[in-house]
Amino acid sequence: NPAFEHIVVEVRPGHVGLVRLNRPKVLNALNAATLAEIVTAVRAFDADSNVGAIVITGSERAFAAGADIAEMSGKSAADLLADVRLAQWEALRKTSKPLIAAVAGFALGGGHELVMVCDIVIAAENAVFGQPEINLGIIPGAGGTQRLARALGKSLAMEIVLNDRRLSADEALRAGLVSRVVPTERVLDEALSVARQIAARAPVAVRLAKQSVLKAFDTTLEVGLELERHNFYLLFSTEDQKEGMRAFLEKRPPNWKGR
Ligand code: CAA
Repeated sequence: NPAFEHIVVEVRPGHVGLVRLNRPKVLNALNAATLAEIVTAVRAFDADSNVGAIVITGSERAFAAGADIAEMSGKSAADLLADVRLAQWEALRKTSKPLIAAVAGFALGGGHELVMVCDIVIAAENAVFGQPEINLGIIPGAGGTQRLARALGKSLAMEIVLNDRRLSADEALRAGLVSRVVPTERVLDEALSVARQIAARAPVAVRLAKQSVLKAFDTTLEVGLELERHNFYLLFSTEDQKEGMRAFLEKRPPNWKGR
């Protein structure tokens, strides 16, 4: 797509939207323009009925090495307050379709925060995860402290944020940050395959499933259970629920309509 300078965007077979970060000279550092392009592409896929799941990836050497330090270095607090970045991260968080990260190489700082905004993370054997902001005299600013604490627990989150502890792919797997580790050259194919499988499922159920699981990270158990039950009941108003159960009883594959 010629509209994009820092990313490559395509629809892959099986209704999968693919966003590939493409600033190899700076290890896919997320300057303002790159983040804006990612948000534009993800939003377009989220609105595209031909896309059922979205994969975000980088290169074999780097998923993304963080915010662009050169761009950030001269900024004041007032500049950052007036910046659209916060709204852009919020927009990514509000994506309704599943976001799947295929991570090889460095996923650091804002790059790691981008990984954590994704719903499913597939890691290459060479992946490295971390929040090195402390080395720059700052802290993570795009959700890192909150999502790490929720995903990994206090002690490991503290080591990562306070002392730049980096996790290997296997450590990230054990900590629950990623759900599989695959040989580096396979990481994109693996993520595309998971995305294709999800894109072939009942779309309204997938959407409400994602919404329900995400709720677990930002509310009490009681409120979360209420939302789950609400979504569960809501699905009984869809044709796909009737079709899914009929197909099971008739011993044939379901034919999803997305309504
Ligand atoms: N911003 C801007 N440029 C970056 C960058 C970044 N985050 N990360 C790497 N680059 C550039 C380097 O400056 C270098 O450019 P030159 O070739 O022009 O010198 C090029 O990418 C290649 O990097 P290295 O030569 O450093 O490669 P390496 O293999 O020796 O090291 C690395 C790789 C460990 C990732 C190292 O580049 C590094 O530490 N990068 C910075 C990581 C970091 O601190 N990220 C956090 C940023 S702050 C943030 O993200 C805030 C937030 O929460 C939103």
